[in-house]
Amino acid sequence: MENKEISQAVIARLPRYFRYLGELKDEGIERISSQELSDIMKVTASQIRQDFNNFGGFGQQGYGYKVDFLYEEIGRILGLDRTHKMIIIGAGNLGQALANYMNFERRGFLFKGIFDNNPELWGRKIRAMEVKPMEEMEEFVKENEIDIAVLTIPKASAASVSERLARTGIRGIWNFAHVDLCVPEEIQVENVHLSDSLMKLIYNINSLDDDGRK
Ligand code: NAI
Repeated sequence: MENKEISQAVIARLPRYFRYLGELKDEGIERISSQELSDIMKVTASQIRQDFNNFGGFGQQGYGYKVDFLYEEIGRILGLDRTHKMIIIGAGNLGQALANYMNFERRGFLFKGIFDNNPELWGRKIRAMEVKPMEEMEEFVKENEIDIAVLTIPKASAASVSERLARTGIRGIWNFAHVDLCVPEEIQVENVHLSDSLMKLIYNINSLDDDGRK
């Protein structure tokens, strides 16, 4: 199936569909109606149908969706049927936590290297990787055909490091530094701000009245 231009709003919902379908699959459920999926996911059935129509529907009238097929297909659309090689830049608290999180590998995201400019960290082992100096970064990216760099460095260093990355031919940056990066448009940047999610939580807590109602 050809991928037509899909809105970012739909793409943002696909990982959640993928996650729920993965759980249904693990539970041995073979098919599901949009209404049942709607009840589990708390998304309207019409939203689900509309989202899936972007990719040709997937469903059969009166039968619902085949969980296995839908899971595979959404995974394929997201690009999870391939492996992606990644490096981490910044081997501090966050960089090490991400490097130690094993579940990325299950989805085909493979950490190949971790870099830092602090000589005290060079050679330190984080799982199978040794922290390497930044001087080795460019060559490593090219030699290992790295697709994605994870930036877990302070914002003051993010601009210069992303400029260096742009020259290596990297395809994506998963940016945890609290700054918007300026990179050529062929490099995709996904910014992550955990505090945004926390602020949303606190807004929702504060918007409840004294009886706990919205
Ligand atoms: P950290 O201080 O433990 O680690 C930062 C590491 O980056 C250090 O090891 C340092 O040597 C290294 N570094 C600094 N400049 C570098 C450069 N030019 N090249 C290579 N390595 C360099 O800090 P932590 O807690 O790991 O946080 C990292 C960054 O991520 C911070 O800027 C923090 O504000 C941000 N952060 C963002 C979050 C988010 O949700 N976006 C959540 C938590 C932290």
